[in-house]
Amino acid sequence: MESTKEPLGLRAVGSHCSLSEMDDFDLTRALDKPRLKIERKRSFDERSMSELSTGYSRHDLDMAHSPGSRSMVDTPLSYVRNSFEPHPMVAEAWEALRRSMVFFRGQPVGTIAAYDHASEEVLNYDQVFVRDFVPSALAFLMNGEPDIVKNFLLKTLQLQGWEKRVDRFKLGEGVMPASFKVLHDPVRKTDTIVADFGESAIGRVAPVDSGFWWIILLRAYTKSTGDLTLSETPECQKGIRLILSLCLSEGFDTFPTLLCADGCSMVDRRMGVYGYPIEIQALFFMALRCALSMLKPDEEGREFIERIVKRLHALSFHMRSYFWLDFQQLNDIYRYKTEEYSHTAVNKFNVMPDSIPDWVFDFMPLRGGYFVGNVSPARMDFRWFSLGNCVAILSSLATPDQSMAIMDLLEHRWEELVGEMPLKICYPCIESHEWRIVTGCDPKNTRWSYHNGGSWPVLLWMLTAACIKTGRPQIARRAIDLIESRLHRDCWPEYYDGKQGRYVGKQARKYQTWSIAGYLVAKMMLEDPSHIGMISLEEDKQMKPVIKRSASWTC
Ligand code: GLC
Repeated sequence: MESTKEPLGLRAVGSHCSLSEMDDFDLTRALDKPRLKIERKRSFDERSMSELSTGYSRHDLDMAHSPGSRSMVDTPLSYVRNSFEPHPMVAEAWEALRRSMVFFRGQPVGTIAAYDHASEEVLNYDQVFVRDFVPSALAFLMNGEPDIVKNFLLKTLQLQGWEKRVDRFKLGEGVMPASFKVLHDPVRKTDTIVADFGESAIGRVAPVDSGFWWIILLRAYTKSTGDLTLSETPECQKGIRLILSLCLSEGFDTFPTLLCADGCSMVDRRMGVYGYPIEIQALFFMALRCALSMLKPDEEGREFIERIVKRLHALSFHMRSYFWLDFQQLNDIYRYKTEEYSHTAVNKFNVMPDSIPDWVFDFMPLRGGYFVGNVSPARMDFRWFSLGNCVAILSSLATPDQSMAIMDLLEHRWEELVGEMPLKICYPCIESHEWRIVTGCDPKNTRWSYHNGGSWPVLLWMLTAACIKTGRPQIARRAIDLIESRLHRDCWPEYYDGKQGRYVGKQARKYQTWSIAGYLVAKMMLEDPSHIGMISLEEDKQMKPVIKRSASWTC
């Protein structure tokens, strides 16, 4: 488990192609020299940012990047770094995060989903979920504790090698588990692992997001530690390739987006997100870019690199053109003709203007926009999903203008999207007949609850990262203030219910690890914005911004 220390920034993460050079773009520099367009907001933010990050030095940065430089019971760096009193929640959160650590043969390998002893039903909340571990991993990396992250990456890589079956059907080789559990036998003194690839999950859906998060986390680890030896091992290279072969294979697809079943990601129950959900498309895009920066251009890697470049090109065009919605676009769709045939069609997917829900006309501000939930033939899901939009900003799937527009909309619709607790998983909820049809009468997903318009504190870290990247940390600060007024008092719930997110969720777990870790990550990023380099990718200038669809029919 030894990691080689590499001075930060000495070697670019995979210097063999232009995209990875972009990827290695120094974010600290980016924040120093804001793009012209965002200067207006930035000047104020920079002042307040430097006020916040008092006492932060290059030495601290180096410390944070030397693996194993701090013991696991040490006071967190973020705690000692401040000259002013940190919020008491920070220390509590670290304690809770450490309590959730899971060990395999003495080594930390992850964190359990929730440490809620009061809850009668454990279900699978005592497992290490791949997606749930991401904010924990980022917290540990930001605090200079990369070992648990490295162990997790290696352990899940081993699990990927298992044969996976649902009944008599064999799953693809590259599928990563949704979660795993360590079983301790106190008599024999042995540890064993059981993993779930969807064969035990409610609904029996394989987690499409797990593999993407694994790749994204491998890059975060590499970026944060400067340790290239892990991602360059033949095992990791193979792991990346296996994940990619699942989603780059050719078939009947007419779109570059990835076709998915309902419930294959954070929203892991039927919620009408089947098809081409924004959450998966944004993660797919980000994982492709991360993979590109890590794949070696050797005999096996070269072919994948070529396929990734082509896919990214098509994917960014498709997403930026067809998933993007702003006032102008909405008006265009509203005036669409239907039944158009041939290449000159403006309404390419034959979306019926009558299917536009009423709420979206009121919701859409004159300035602002977002990537809609789903686009497929004659079906546009107009719901706003937070994870997909934040990841679109972080991965630069959104152009700089689109990123700013996403933040404009969030500010404009603060009451609806944040309310009393950041952040709505999606907006709005579905109810009555629609709820019956879409969720299959799911009692956990009733209106404004859980995945159906519930508010999830874990999303704070993604929101904060997106705010920092777009030069608007004051928005994140507002959200953090809301979290600090409730989360600890309510024992770190998994989600909140209600239109405003005022009530602790009906079936929410307490001491939900990713709510805890998400808060810590958000705090550390605001203190030291350069941290977002590990979870953000700069714009790739080769991916040309898209032409407006309303003009496209003339070409
Ligand atoms: C819920 C969430 C899922 C999460 C799991 C463990 O099922 O929907 O996203 O991974 O709990 O916390």
